[in-house]
Amino acid sequence: MRITLSVIKCDVGGYVGHSASHPDILSIARNCLQKAKDNKTLIDFHVTSCGDDLELIMTHTKGVEDSEIHSLAWNTFLTCTEKAKELGLYGAGQDILKESFSGNLKGMGPGYAEMEFEERKSEPVIIFMADKTEPGAWNLPLYKIFADPFNTAGLIIDPEMHDGFKFQVLDVIEHKEVIFNAPEEIYDLLVLIGSPGRFVIKNIYKKEGEIAATTSTQRLSLMAGKYVGKDDPVLIVRAQHGLPAVGEILEPFAFPHLVEGWMRGSHHGPLMPVSMVDDTPSRFDGPPRVIGLGFQIKNGMFIGPRDMLGDISFDRARQISNEIADFMRQHGPFEPHRLAADSMEYTTLPQVLEKVKEKLKSENKNKKK
Ligand code: F6R
Ligand code: MG
Ligand code: MG
Repeated sequence: MRITLSVIKCDVGGYVGHSASHPDILSIARNCLQKAKDNKTLIDFHVTSCGDDLELIMTHTKGVEDSEIHSLAWNTFLTCTEKAKELGLYGAGQDILKESFSGNLKGMGPGYAEMEFEERKSEPVIIFMADKTEPGAWNLPLYKIFADPFNTAGLIIDPEMHDGFKFQVLDVIEHKEVIFNAPEEIYDLLVLIGSPGRFVIKNIYKKEGEIAATTSTQRLSLMAGKYVGKDDPVLIVRAQHGLPAVGEILEPFAFPHLVEGWMRGSHHGPLMPVSMVDDTPSRFDGPPRVIGLGFQIKNGMFIGPRDMLGDISFDRARQISNEIADFMRQHGPFEPHRLAADSMEYTTLPQVLEKVKEKLKSENKNKKK
């Protein structure tokens, strides 16, 4: 059976501030998707949240970027936004950038990751969702999962993985894309994906073309032309039987690497792996965090989820994240805790520079002769 797995997300309003989603919003979203399941638009769905982001996880047979599925998500977000406004939730409709829907969600505000595949006899998938960070946050863990034999034993041991994988990388500034083969071209790949604010891994395929992983890649600030919060990305990874094992997929999250985001989308901080019950950024609106929901998919139906990053083996990563958070916070408004000036272009920097323009003289003019 060929199915499509769509994960579509939107910040429709936060509770309290930008820290979480309100339970009423989740139940409205569930009602909307239940109707779509009843009328056979969807095979199955699971509604959840990560921080202030509402996450719609859906299966269907309509392929990726399908207008019916995208308009279902869009209308669900609009209905939830109405409730968010009624409750006075914070930033109600924050990610709804456009007035009306036209065809699909590209450039509309909500983020999406979708993949179409022939369902295997047993189809384990892990859906990662993050809050207070950006799509490039997946670059490092994806590299480790699919190209680093020190992370993924299967790259060495499993004959079905030994050929490696293909990485499709997007340049989100210049809107270009390129495919790299791993392991053959890993040095070139790393040159690009080491700049996660610009180069973002979009899809990963087996060498013969089977889809293995996909991410959401929308950049809200680039769409809106001003700072509107970070993009709080999602990632789908298929597991096992010629693909990385579940444990190989989870392993990179034991290292809470530094990502952009956190307070006002303008700081570096550790990506803290958390349980679903702890996906509510608090300290300094963070630290940025990630949850991982595991499902078995059977005939398009979700069996699960399991709270994969809630496991005690990630306790130490959480502790390290808190230590890194302490360390980074001590820098206050200084780089590299605060992002570099070129990543701050949608914040106050241009206005402040404009204001002090008169006072900014060239060094020579201030020198006494
Ligand atoms: C970061 C985020 C928050 C807000 C911050 C200020 O992605 O959502 O850190 O940027 O709480 O929010 P406003 O400007 O809405 O008061
Ligand atoms: Mg928000
Ligand atoms: Mg968010």
